Parts: sequence; structure tokens; C-alpha cells
Amino acid sequence: MRYLNVGTDKKISKIGLGTWQFGSREWGYGEPYAKREAYAIVRRALKLGVTLFDTAEIYGSGRSERILGRALGEDRESVFLATKVVPVVPSALAVKQRAVASAKRLGVSRLDLYQVHWPNPLVPDSTIMRGMRSLQGSGLVGDVGVSNYSLERWRAAEEKLGNRVLCNQVRYSLVDRSPERDLLPFAEAHGHVIIAFSPLAQGMLSGKYHGTDLPANSIRTTSPLFQPENLARSNDLIVTLREVADAHAATSAQIALAWAIHHPAVAAIPGASSVEQLESNVAAAEIELDDDEYQALDKVSARLRPATVPDAPDRLSLSALEHAARGGWYLAKTVWHDVRGR
Ligand SMILES: NC(=O)c1ccc[n+]([C@@H]2O[C@H](COP(=O)([O-])OP(=O)(O)OC[C@H]3O[C@@H](n4cnc5c(N)ncnc54)[C@H](OP(=O)(O)O)[C@@H]3O)[C@@H](O)[C@H]2O)c1
Repeated sequence: MRYLNVGTDKKISKIGLGTWQFGSREWGYGEPYAKREAYAIVRRALKLGVTLFDTAEIYGSGRSERILGRALGEDRESVFLATKVVPVVPSALAVKQRAVASAKRLGVSRLDLYQVHWPNPLVPDSTIMRGMRSLQGSGLVGDVGVSNYSLERWRAAEEKLGNRVLCNQVRYSLVDRSPERDLLPFAEAHGHVIIAFSPLAQGMLSGKYHGTDLPANSIRTTSPLFQPENLARSNDLIVTLREVADAHAATSAQIALAWAIHHPAVAAIPGASSVEQLESNVAAAEIELDDDEYQALDKVSARLRPATVPDAPDRLSLSALEHAARGGWYLAKTVWHDVRGR
């Protein structure tokens, strides 16, 4: 495994583990996965040197945090644990209460990275950052992060916090390279981190989905990425990935990850539906592509024009009101599950 060098107490692995899949309806992996496979994935990740684990209070309405915390067990304190707050009520008091609830579900006394899940479209970050500052002061939060933020808003959040906002977690992969415009150069120049979510384009870059072989879960049946027209448009990219993969005796998914973490400021957090996928994703950290291979991938991905630009379901191309309603609904479910002790 390789690690970032950004002056954190704990190491941040270049390949982390995304855990939205754990217990969430959208991914639909079912109970055997939530009860057994997720545990095995986390334990194997620890053995292989993964230190970056990403979750969020809304994943599975708190269930992802619970599953992850239990699976980490005694190792909870030695990893770089990242979770996220829904910024629906972005007051200082609310963010403190949400942090306490997340720490309880994870079973930790400190959240190494506490991220604002998306920018609240109605309320500026001054109040939420006041809460974050106080959480850092009390020791419950180590580093503060944001997610789905523009560069302008990331810098403004940092100013409000009066401290570094270490990470911006954004979609970054061969099918969405928009962070290269300004986020990656900023992160590199200032010792900050881009956490790349959906680095495999939700499995699309593995090349296994085409024709009638399509994923069945709701998160992907509704995604523009998996519509036949976009799968057809991505064919050249998939072919190039396979050619590069063959030259390295690797898989297309591994090459897609090796490409994503090539930039010094990037750590990627692929999700995994099996231990085998996790192992393969971790091994991608050791793959070195040569310049010609990067150029070939850059070129073919730059030509890719998806029919519609997909948005993360939890980022918001939605209107401000839809945004607030959706976040509020997820948050209400999380609180309800807390009350019922699930
Ligand atoms: N901050 C945000 O707004 C935001 C948004 C989205 C995600 N995230 C975070 O980012 C993490 C990762 O993103 P994601 O889950 O959306 O997408 P992803 O990591 O690109 O894709 C994960 C899926 O790809 C497939 N896969 C994984 N490894 C593979 C391999 N080696 N070979 C073939 N297929 C493989 C698996 O699905 P199948 O096996 O079922 O095909 C897996 O569930 C999430 O878990 C979450 O923590 C954050």
C-alpha cells in the first residue's frame, strides 16, 4: 500500500474503502452481505494496509457506520476513519449533535475526518464551520473535510473554519475528470487531499457491464452511466483499459484505480461487493503505468461525451428545496433508527 504525505497523525492510504454499500437499500446487496461479507471486507482491508475508511450518517440510515465500527473492532483507533454530516440543519449545535451520534454508531471517541456531505445551497458555511471548530477544540473531530464542494466554496469554508479543511471528496474517475480543472491543482499546491468517490464509475469501468449484462440495483438502473447509449459511447475507453490491463496482467478496474490515484493529492475509496474485489482494488496501488499508457487513457477519456452528465445521488443537481427535502428525509430515518437502537 502507498500512503499520502499530508502531515496527519494517522496514515491515509491511497486506496481506501468506501462503505456506502454496507446495509444500504440503494445498492441492494442484501442481508448476507451486510452481516458477513462487509465484515470480511473490512478485516481483509486492514490486513492489506488500508487505513482510509469512508462512511456517512445517511448510508443505510446509520447502518453503514454501525457495520463499519463493529467490523473494525479494536482497530478503530488506528485507522483514519472518515464520516459525513448531512447539512440540512447546518447550525453549530446540530452539527455537534450529529457528530456525537456518528461517533456512537462507529464506537469511537474521535472522528478522524468529519466531512460536510454536500454544500447547503441555502445557508453559507459560517454556522456549520463554527460547530466544526468547536468539535475540533473538544477533540471529537480531528480533521474537517467537505464533499461535492466547488473550489470557491472549499476555500470559503476554510476561511470560516480558521483552519485547514483537509479534504474535498468528489467524484473523480476516467468518466468524470472535472476535478482536474481546479480542485487537484489546489490540493497539490496546499497539501490538501482529493478523496475520489465512484473511482470505478460504480463498476462501469470494470468493463463487465454491456449489452444485456447490466446491474440490477436501483442506484445503477437509474444512473445515466448504465444506459445503453452511454455504455456504447464508453466502448473505446473500455477497450483501451483492457489493452493496458493485459500489458500489466491486471484487470480493467485495477487500471482505472491506478490512473485515479496517480495524482499525488488523490486517494480513492472504491466500494466492494466481495473480498476478492477489495483485494484486487488494494493491489492496484502497486501498479505503475508508463507515460504512454497515461496518455492513451487521458486521450480516450477526454473524447468520452456521456449523453447526460450523471450527478451523485447525494450531491445535488436538484433544486435547493428538493435537496433539503431529500437530506431531511434521510436524516429523519437515521435518527429514527438511532431511537429504535438498530
Ligand atoms: N460524497 C459523496 O457524495 C459520495 C457519493 C458516492 C459515493 N461516495 C463514497 O465513495 C465510495 C465509492 O463510490 P461508489 O460506491 O459510488 O462507486 P465505485 O467505488 O466506483 O464502485 C463500487 C462498485 O463497483 C464494483 N466493483 C468494485 N471493485 C470492483 C472490481 N475490482 N472489479 C469489478 N467491479 C468492482 C462493485 O459493484 P458490483 O460488484 O455490484 O458491480 C462495487 O460495489 C462509496 O462507498 C462512498 O463511500 C461518496
